[in-house]
Amino acid sequence: MNTRGRILEALEGRGGFVSGAGLAAGLGISRAAVWKQIDRLKDEGYAIEGVRSRGYRLLSRPDSINDHEISRRLTTAVLGRRLLCLSRTGSTNTDAAALGREGAVEGTVVLANEQTAGRGRLGRQWLSVAGVNLYMSVLLRPPIVPAQAPQLSLLAGVAVAAALEAEGVDTRIKWPNDVLVGSRKICGVLTEIEAEADHVGFVVVGMGINVNSLDKHFPDELKPIATSILMESGRASSRAALAARVLGEMETRYQDFCRNGLAAVAAEWTQRSCLSGKEVRVNGPNGEIVGICAGIDSDGALLVKQEGGGTAQRILAGDVTMRGGV
Ligand code: BTN
Repeated sequence: MNTRGRILEALEGRGGFVSGAGLAAGLGISRAAVWKQIDRLKDEGYAIEGVRSRGYRLLSRPDSINDHEISRRLTTAVLGRRLLCLSRTGSTNTDAAALGREGAVEGTVVLANEQTAGRGRLGRQWLSVAGVNLYMSVLLRPPIVPAQAPQLSLLAGVAVAAALEAEGVDTRIKWPNDVLVGSRKICGVLTEIEAEADHVGFVVVGMGINVNSLDKHFPDELKPIATSILMESGRASSRAALAARVLGEMETRYQDFCRNGLAAVAAEWTQRSCLSGKEVRVNGPNGEIVGICAGIDSDGALLVKQEGGGTAQRILAGDVTMRGGV
């Protein structure tokens, strides 16, 4: 942890005033250095009161994406134990993949306050406005074959849905992994892998969650189909708290996935999906299929029962629409 993180820890620990001399002695630095670091914390948005003869007191913290704000809330053993928090980057998925190639440990997480080249699925762009949303990529080294990598997208979608539920936002998942509120998207997941034919080197699971964005942040074409936690709940949320919560929800499911496969996630996905039991139309590589969605199987394939047909069709790729729109 850096010096500013340790100063914050000391201020939080006491709750009240902490003397400059006490901070300096505890950290093994000069009082002038403490003062300098306090100034930097103020620049980062922390409200810190300084009173002569009493010391410093933390009044409020900003909604910052930084190591300290996330680490202090982490409940995980692996995910996020190495964190890279950037104020601005092209794409956190690209950064996480570069770290993966350099041999970074499993669970390394890259977050950014802003992305200038955020990427979505199918070569789309992911709008990544500064300061309001969560842009987070998790590096994993799972014991799977390349064909199983999309299962981690399903796992991430379920973990985000659970984290949003804890924030009081009721979401549904659309196959494979869009997280929706009603018919509006609140989160997208982009999973990318580095693999040989039969061996996965690493997987990067990137999540873009609309947290505190407002209608004005979305371009006209997205306004009718996008939403955020703030727009749904009327309350601003801490992005750092949400990041830590998502990582917690992901880790428990990931541990189970590595030991027992996708079964538990598949069951939860089926329960959280907006498609289950509904009539769906799938446009895939083998043409169009219309039928009732029966959830996903333990490989992550979408199950669609056609009228008069016997067993459900297994859909591995395609665009799904539900009768009535979404
Ligand atoms: C989608 O198309 O629905 C997936 C969007 C994924 C966006 C996230 S934001 C963090 C990470 N970095 C990227 O460039 N993309 C993913």
